[in-house]
Amino acid sequence: MRLEKYIATSGVASRRAVKKSIRAGLVTVNGETIFVPGHPIDVETDIVAFDGQQVEPLTEHLYLMLNKPPGYLTTRRDERNRPTVMTLVADLPDSIYPVGRLDLETEGLLLFTNDGNFAYRLLHPSHEIEKTYLAWAKGIPSDAAVQRLRQGVSIPSGETAPAMVKRLKTSKDETSTQFEVVIHEGKKRQVRLMFKAVGHPVIRLKRTRIGNLRLGGLPQGAYRSLTESEIMALMEL
Ligand code: URA
Repeated sequence: MRLEKYIATSGVASRRAVKKSIRAGLVTVNGETIFVPGHPIDVETDIVAFDGQQVEPLTEHLYLMLNKPPGYLTTRRDERNRPTVMTLVADLPDSIYPVGRLDLETEGLLLFTNDGNFAYRLLHPSHEIEKTYLAWAKGIPSDAAVQRLRQGVSIPSGETAPAMVKRLKTSKDETSTQFEVVIHEGKKRQVRLMFKAVGHPVIRLKRTRIGNLRLGGLPQGAYRSLTESEIMALMEL
Protein backbone atom coordinates (compact mmCIF):
# COMPACT_ATOMS: atom_id res chain seq x y z
CA MET A 1 0.00 0.00 0.00
CA ARG A 2 1.18 3.54 -0.73
CA LEU A 3 2.61 5.32 2.32
CA GLU A 4 0.18 8.29 2.24
CA LYS A 5 -2.84 6.00 1.86
CA TYR A 6 -1.72 3.89 4.80
CA ILE A 7 -1.37 6.94 7.06
CA ALA A 8 -4.56 8.68 5.85
CA THR A 9 -6.54 5.49 6.40
CA SER A 10 -5.50 5.39 10.03
CA GLY A 11 -7.33 8.72 10.38
CA VAL A 12 -4.33 10.90 11.23
CA ALA A 13 -4.90 13.44 8.44
CA SER A 14 -6.23 13.73 4.89
CA ARG A 15 -4.23 12.16 2.12
CA ARG A 16 -3.23 15.56 0.76
CA ALA A 17 -2.04 16.76 4.17
CA VAL A 18 -0.14 13.52 4.66
CA LYS A 19 1.68 13.96 1.33
CA LYS A 20 2.81 17.43 2.43
CA SER A 21 4.03 16.05 5.73
CA ILE A 22 5.96 13.31 3.97
CA ARG A 23 7.74 15.88 1.78
CA ALA A 24 8.45 17.93 4.93
CA GLY A 25 10.26 14.95 6.47
CA LEU A 26 7.71 14.20 9.21
CA VAL A 27 7.27 10.53 8.32
CA THR A 28 9.50 7.58 9.07
CA VAL A 29 9.27 3.97 7.97
CA ASN A 30 11.11 1.52 10.21
CA GLY A 31 12.95 4.49 11.71
CA GLU A 32 14.13 5.95 8.41
CA THR A 33 12.74 9.29 7.14
CA ILE A 34 10.93 8.89 3.83
CA PHE A 35 10.47 12.05 1.72
CA VAL A 36 8.62 10.52 -1.24
CA PRO A 37 4.84 9.92 -1.19
CA GLY A 38 4.00 6.63 -2.87
CA HIS A 39 6.69 4.74 -0.98
CA PRO A 40 5.40 1.15 -0.75
CA ILE A 41 4.39 -0.12 2.68
CA ASP A 42 4.08 -3.70 3.79
CA VAL A 43 1.03 -3.34 6.04
CA GLU A 44 1.95 -6.53 7.93
CA THR A 45 5.51 -5.69 8.93
CA ASP A 46 6.47 -2.02 8.39
CA ILE A 47 6.42 0.38 11.31
CA VAL A 48 5.34 3.86 10.27
CA ALA A 49 5.55 6.98 12.41
CA PHE A 50 3.87 10.31 11.65
CA ASP A 51 5.32 13.32 13.43
CA GLY A 52 6.93 11.04 15.99
CA GLN A 53 3.76 9.00 16.69
CA GLN A 54 3.51 5.40 15.60
CA VAL A 55 0.63 4.86 13.14
CA GLU A 56 -1.68 2.05 14.21
CA PRO A 57 -1.61 -0.98 11.93
CA LEU A 58 -4.69 -1.61 9.80
CA THR A 59 -6.01 -4.64 11.60
CA GLU A 60 -9.29 -3.10 12.72
CA HIS A 61 -12.49 -3.62 10.84
CA LEU A 62 -13.95 -0.73 8.88
CA TYR A 63 -17.64 0.22 8.64
CA LEU A 64 -18.70 3.10 6.41
CA MET A 65 -21.69 4.62 4.71
CA LEU A 66 -21.59 6.25 1.29
CA ASN A 67 -24.23 8.51 -0.25
CA LYS A 68 -24.11 6.85 -3.65
CA PRO A 69 -24.72 9.13 -6.62
CA PRO A 70 -26.63 7.73 -9.64
CA GLY A 71 -24.49 6.31 -12.43
CA TYR A 72 -22.11 4.17 -10.35
CA LEU A 73 -22.16 0.36 -10.41
CA THR A 74 -22.25 -1.46 -7.08
CA THR A 75 -19.40 -3.86 -7.75
CA ARG A 76 -15.74 -4.06 -6.83
CA ARG A 77 -14.55 -4.25 -10.41
CA ASP A 78 -16.13 -3.82 -13.84
CA GLU A 79 -14.52 -5.50 -16.81
CA ARG A 80 -15.93 -2.79 -19.07
CA ASN A 81 -14.27 -0.11 -16.91
CA ARG A 82 -17.48 1.74 -16.10
CA PRO A 83 -17.49 3.91 -12.94
CA THR A 84 -17.98 1.79 -9.81
CA VAL A 85 -18.71 2.75 -6.21
CA MET A 86 -15.14 1.72 -5.38
CA THR A 87 -13.85 4.85 -7.15
CA LEU A 88 -15.73 6.90 -4.51
CA VAL A 89 -13.91 5.22 -1.61
CA ALA A 90 -10.51 4.93 -3.32
CA ASP A 91 -8.80 6.60 -0.33
CA LEU A 92 -9.62 3.61 1.84
CA PRO A 93 -7.96 0.19 2.09
CA ASP A 94 -8.66 -2.15 -0.82
CA SER A 95 -10.08 -4.70 1.62
CA ILE A 96 -13.47 -2.95 1.86
CA TYR A 97 -16.44 -3.88 -0.30
CA PRO A 98 -20.09 -2.84 -0.60
CA VAL A 99 -22.66 -4.63 1.59
CA GLY A 100 -25.54 -5.49 -0.72
CA ARG A 101 -26.27 -3.50 -3.80
CA LEU A 102 -28.02 -0.47 -5.23
CA ASP A 103 -28.94 -0.37 -8.94
CA LEU A 104 -26.81 1.71 -11.30
CA GLU A 105 -29.26 4.63 -11.19
CA THR A 106 -30.29 4.28 -7.54
CA GLU A 107 -28.85 6.78 -5.06
CA GLY A 108 -28.34 6.97 -1.34
CA LEU A 109 -27.27 4.86 1.59
CA LEU A 110 -24.75 2.13 0.76
CA LEU A 111 -22.67 0.38 3.43
CA PHE A 112 -19.08 -0.78 3.06
CA THR A 113 -17.06 -3.02 5.34
CA ASN A 114 -14.19 -5.46 5.42
CA ASP A 115 -15.90 -7.50 8.15
CA GLY A 116 -17.28 -10.58 6.44
CA ASN A 117 -19.40 -11.64 9.42
CA PHE A 118 -21.07 -8.26 9.59
CA ALA A 119 -21.88 -8.31 5.85
CA TYR A 120 -23.21 -11.85 6.04
CA ARG A 121 -25.48 -11.10 8.99
CA LEU A 122 -26.82 -7.92 7.44
CA LEU A 123 -27.63 -9.55 4.10
CA HIS A 124 -29.13 -12.74 5.48
CA PRO A 125 -32.83 -12.84 4.47
CA SER A 126 -33.85 -14.19 7.88
CA HIS A 127 -33.07 -10.81 9.45
CA GLU A 128 -35.66 -8.96 7.33
CA ILE A 129 -34.03 -5.59 7.99
CA GLU A 130 -36.26 -2.64 7.12
CA LYS A 131 -35.08 -0.27 4.44
CA THR A 132 -36.60 3.07 3.56
CA TYR A 133 -36.56 4.54 0.04
CA LEU A 134 -37.72 7.79 -1.47
CA ALA A 135 -39.24 6.93 -4.83
CA TRP A 136 -40.33 9.40 -7.49
CA ALA A 137 -42.95 7.65 -9.65
CA LYS A 138 -44.11 8.80 -13.05
CA GLY A 139 -47.48 10.56 -13.09
CA ILE A 140 -50.00 10.52 -10.24
CA PRO A 141 -50.74 6.97 -9.04
CA SER A 142 -54.35 6.50 -7.89
CA ASP A 143 -55.16 5.57 -4.29
CA ALA A 144 -56.11 2.11 -5.57
CA ALA A 145 -52.65 1.68 -7.15
CA VAL A 146 -50.99 2.76 -3.90
CA GLN A 147 -53.15 0.29 -1.98
CA ARG A 148 -51.98 -2.51 -4.30
CA LEU A 149 -48.35 -1.57 -3.59
CA ARG A 150 -49.08 -1.78 0.13
CA GLN A 151 -50.70 -5.19 -0.10
CA GLY A 152 -48.13 -6.76 -2.43
CA VAL A 153 -47.85 -7.01 -6.21
CA SER A 154 -46.59 -9.61 -8.62
CA ILE A 155 -43.08 -9.04 -9.97
CA PRO A 156 -40.97 -11.51 -12.01
CA SER A 157 -39.26 -12.89 -8.87
CA GLY A 158 -42.58 -13.48 -7.08
CA GLU A 159 -45.16 -11.73 -4.94
CA THR A 160 -43.92 -8.80 -2.83
CA ALA A 161 -44.69 -8.76 0.90
CA PRO A 162 -46.87 -6.03 2.38
CA ALA A 163 -45.00 -2.72 2.41
CA MET A 164 -45.42 0.71 3.97
CA VAL A 165 -46.09 3.15 1.13
CA LYS A 166 -46.75 6.81 1.92
CA ARG A 167 -47.66 9.42 -0.67
CA LEU A 168 -45.57 12.54 -0.08
CA LYS A 169 -46.13 15.08 -2.87
CA THR A 170 -46.83 15.51 -6.56
CA SER A 171 -44.55 17.79 -8.59
CA LYS A 172 -45.99 21.17 -9.66
CA ASP A 173 -46.12 20.07 -13.30
CA GLU A 174 -47.87 16.83 -12.19
CA THR A 175 -45.36 14.63 -14.06
CA SER A 176 -44.18 12.75 -10.95
CA THR A 177 -45.22 11.86 -7.40
CA GLN A 178 -42.87 11.26 -4.49
CA PHE A 179 -43.39 8.33 -2.10
CA GLU A 180 -41.74 6.96 1.00
CA VAL A 181 -41.50 3.18 0.77
CA VAL A 182 -40.44 0.81 3.56
CA ILE A 183 -39.63 -2.80 2.61
CA HIS A 184 -37.86 -5.63 4.39
CA GLU A 185 -37.17 -7.89 1.42
CA GLY A 186 -34.23 -7.64 -0.93
CA LYS A 187 -35.66 -8.77 -4.25
CA LYS A 188 -33.70 -7.55 -7.25
CA ARG A 189 -34.87 -4.10 -8.41
CA GLN A 190 -37.79 -4.52 -6.05
CA VAL A 191 -39.01 -0.93 -5.66
CA ARG A 192 -38.68 -0.21 -9.37
CA LEU A 193 -40.54 -3.41 -10.29
CA MET A 194 -43.30 -2.74 -7.74
CA PHE A 195 -44.12 0.66 -9.21
CA LYS A 196 -43.78 -0.68 -12.76
CA ALA A 197 -46.33 -3.37 -11.87
CA VAL A 198 -48.93 -0.69 -11.10
CA GLY A 199 -48.14 1.30 -14.26
CA HIS A 200 -46.07 4.12 -12.74
CA PRO A 201 -42.35 3.52 -13.37
CA VAL A 202 -39.85 4.99 -10.94
CA ILE A 203 -37.88 7.89 -12.37
CA ARG A 204 -35.67 8.49 -9.33
CA LEU A 205 -34.89 6.27 -6.35
CA LYS A 206 -32.93 6.99 -3.18
CA ARG A 207 -32.33 4.76 -0.15
CA THR A 208 -32.41 6.76 3.08
CA ARG A 209 -32.38 4.14 5.85
CA ILE A 210 -31.18 0.61 6.67
CA GLY A 211 -32.44 -0.59 10.08
CA ASN A 212 -31.57 2.17 12.56
CA LEU A 213 -29.05 3.74 10.25
CA ARG A 214 -30.06 6.93 8.46
CA LEU A 215 -28.32 8.68 5.57
CA GLY A 216 -29.05 12.09 7.13
CA GLY A 217 -27.35 15.08 5.54
CA LEU A 218 -24.34 13.23 4.12
CA PRO A 219 -23.59 14.98 0.79
CA GLN A 220 -23.93 12.99 -2.43
CA GLY A 221 -20.67 11.17 -3.25
CA ALA A 222 -19.36 11.55 0.33
CA TYR A 223 -18.74 8.80 2.86
CA ARG A 224 -18.22 8.62 6.60
CA SER A 225 -17.34 6.00 9.21
CA LEU A 226 -20.20 4.59 11.24
CA THR A 227 -20.15 5.47 14.93
CA GLU A 228 -19.61 2.78 17.54
CA SER A 229 -23.30 2.88 18.51
CA GLU A 230 -24.45 2.67 14.86
CA ILE A 231 -22.27 -0.42 14.36
CA MET A 232 -23.56 -2.02 17.55
CA ALA A 233 -27.20 -1.32 16.58
CA LEU A 234 -26.73 -3.00 13.18
CA MET A 235 -24.98 -5.98 14.79
CA GLU A 236 -27.95 -6.48 17.08
CA LEU A 237 -30.52 -6.62 14.29
N1 URA B 1 -35.07 -1.39 -5.18
C1 URA B 1 -34.72 -1.09 -6.45
O1 URA B 1 -35.52 -1.16 -7.35
N2 URA B 1 -33.45 -0.71 -6.69
C2 URA B 1 -32.52 -0.60 -5.72
O2 URA B 1 -31.38 -0.24 -6.00
C3 URA B 1 -32.90 -0.92 -4.41
C4 URA B 1 -34.18 -1.32 -4.17
